[in-house]
Amino acid sequence: MLAASFWPLVAPSDGRATYAEHCAGCHGANLEGAPDWQQRLPDGRWPPPPHDATGHTWHHSDAQLFQIVRNGPQSILGPQYQTDMPAFAGTLSDRDIATVLAYIKSTWPPDERAYQELMNRPPAERLQQP
Ligand code: HEC
Repeated sequence: MLAASFWPLVAPSDGRATYAEHCAGCHGANLEGAPDWQQRLPDGRWPPPPHDATGHTWHHSDAQLFQIVRNGPQSILGPQYQTDMPAFAGTLSDRDIATVLAYIKSTWPPDERAYQELMNRPPAERLQQP
């Protein structure tokens, strides 16, 4: 996976400005998400979820997060899925996407970091965890 090779190389602090410019308008300056993010909007779509520990971004592997941001949620959920989350492939480089995700990850407390690290492992290894 292309993204994996970027991960150790990017500095989380570099992602802060990219986050502020391209993500904060929807996901909140402090990664807090929309106020009622667990309630669908009148049009049936979901509001922007938080990226801090109160959300569920940390439930997803690096590869899934990279795909959501690069190619949009439809690339996982299907072309019929209605969403306000843009695909950033034409706007941000792969390195910028990896950097902004590294910034988001750097804000998570140890338990959420550890859980998300587990999601990056193959399923057989996850089952061996105590
Ligand atoms: C125009 C508003 C908007 C912008 C700008 C935006 N997002 Fe989103 N984002 C959303 C919405 C709405 C969702 C919920 C998607 C859904 O389920 O329909 C979402 C979902 C996500 C998810 C999935 C979260 C999860 O817990 O499953 C990730 C990751 C994400 N966004 C990252 C980003 C990043 C990184 C940026 C900036 C590069 C960004 N978003 C910019 C609106 C936005």
